[in-house]
Amino acid sequence: MSKSQATPNSAATGAESPDAILFREGMSRAAAAVHVVTTDGEAGRAGFTATAVTPVTDSPASLLVCVNTASRSAQALLANRAFCVNTLGAEDLALADIFAGRTGLQGQDRFTVGAWEKLETGSPALTTSLVSFDCRISDARVVATHHVIIGEIVGIRLGERKPPLIYQGRHYHKL
Ligand SMILES: Cc1cc2nc3c(=O)[nH]c(=O)nc-3n(C[C@H](O)[C@H](O)[C@H](O)COP(=O)(O)O)c2cc1C
Repeated sequence: MSKSQATPNSAATGAESPDAILFREGMSRAAAAVHVVTTDGEAGRAGFTATAVTPVTDSPASLLVCVNTASRSAQALLANRAFCVNTLGAEDLALADIFAGRTGLQGQDRFTVGAWEKLETGSPALTTSLVSFDCRISDARVVATHHVIIGEIVGIRLGERKPPLIYQGRHYHKL
């Protein structure tokens, strides 16, 4: 029996396939850097916590971010055509929770905590980040539940060298 025949009703019922649960458990075992991805422009200011950030190439310097299509920030990012990836130090754990929506702050209000400046695209850069990558969107496509957004880096602000914030086993850690 093929795999699709083994779970014939999962699409119709909305039930999760075991593969998705196993995938998330598997990914929880991997350690990841924690970033706050921000944007600003005509569509407004927005930001969210992300671990799905990956370098693509250094020529031209580019990275990709995966953002849930249901996220409020996704529309702002795509409409502004720009974003900034701010890699968090361990001391900024509170910001990770705020930008993950765990404190109830939404939209612009998330920026009332932390010190922010603007780089070339106008997207907010966190002054205490380990590094901030200022990007213009060069490509984007939807893969099922997520926008995969590629940003060409137009500016990099190197921060202080200090312990990074890590997410592993569904908890934050200081390296
Ligand atoms: C550690 C951690 C990592 C996350 N990584 C991502 C991610 O890579 N992509 C994503 O779309 N959401 C991710 N999320 C969830 C978003 O941060 C969360 O849904 C947020 O509230 C979205 O805000 P928005 O709806 O205002 O855009 C992550 C959450 C946590 C706690």
